[in-house]
Amino acid sequence: MIAVDQLGKRYGRIAALDGLSFEIKKGGVAALVGGNGAGKSTVLRILSTLTAPTDGDAVVCGYDVVQDALDVRRRIGYLAENTPLYGDQRVVDFLRFRAALKGVAKGERRERVQEVIRQCSLQGVERRRIATLSRGFQKRVGLADALVHLPEVLLLDEPMVGLDAVQVPAVRELIGSLAGRHTVLFTTHSREEAEAVCRQVLHLQRGRLVTAAPPVPRTPASGGIYLEIRGDHEAICQGINALAGVRRVETAGEGDGRWHRLVIRTDVGRDVRPDLFALAANHQWVIREIRLEEGDPCADS
Ligand SMILES: Nc1ncnc2c1ncn2[C@@H]1O[C@H](COP(=O)(O)OP(=O)(O)O)[C@@H](O)[C@H]1O
Ligand SMILES: [Mg+2]
Repeated sequence: MIAVDQLGKRYGRIAALDGLSFEIKKGGVAALVGGNGAGKSTVLRILSTLTAPTDGDAVVCGYDVVQDALDVRRRIGYLAENTPLYGDQRVVDFLRFRAALKGVAKGERRERVQEVIRQCSLQGVERRRIATLSRGFQKRVGLADALVHLPEVLLLDEPMVGLDAVQVPAVRELIGSLAGRHTVLFTTHSREEAEAVCRQVLHLQRGRLVTAAPPVPRTPASGGIYLEIRGDHEAICQGINALAGVRRVETAGEGDGRWHRLVIRTDVGRDVRPDLFALAANHQWVIREIRLEEGDPCADS
């Protein structure tokens, strides 16, 4: 749904983006995380066709952001970092005006506007002039604007900034709830914020991706832990067997003499990896690989 390939953006000698590639599947929610100047806003501005890349490609809903900019615009809702709103308009009038501008059929506008007012918790301020609202409310008016035409893709630049402690969880929940029906990319400077909302976290630093989505911490369910370890075989098996939560230790194929390949069966939901590291350190055994075995259908649990 969103595909970015070797994207680059230069401002004179500054490379705001440098060979950035990622994909977000239809109905997925992803976060771009990074400090100030990492390039987050630049990515969203390119995807929303406000600025052109100087290198690489970006495709949204199958349309190229440069060649098919109009097709892209019709399918996206964009919340800018500094939400530009028409301050002297009332919330409801602004949203109706925006709905009309974005091609929502006349007969559906009232309903769409009521829906986004509800989604963004704007009940009670519909008749207020936007300029008189707090920053948090203005942000949510911007969010309502981004949503009003039911776009396939939502690009939200810092949607949590300016919100108070009560509003943040509500907006978090709202963004999470968009998954499935919409494809969402939002930016934040907070990794915790990103991980609270979605699994696909793209960490941006100086215009490059530092790590792809870090795996969500898992505990072994039906599988076990695969381990490659060096040391005295018997002592290793005894030591691991004695750990709380371990059911048994199996040999996983041939070791190469010094290295032993083991699978450790544990109680469901028990993650003994930290204990394994501690045990190995105590005995000066060397671990060269340790990983959770995923959903092995043959494993009993
Ligand atoms: N219009 C511009 N002209 C020159 N440099 C810019 C412009 N917009 C952004 N930059 C630079 O590009 C880099 C990335 O900016 P930005 O995408 O806004 O980062 P972020 O949103 O992560 O804080 C920064 O070094 C910034 O100074
Ligand atoms: Mg920014």
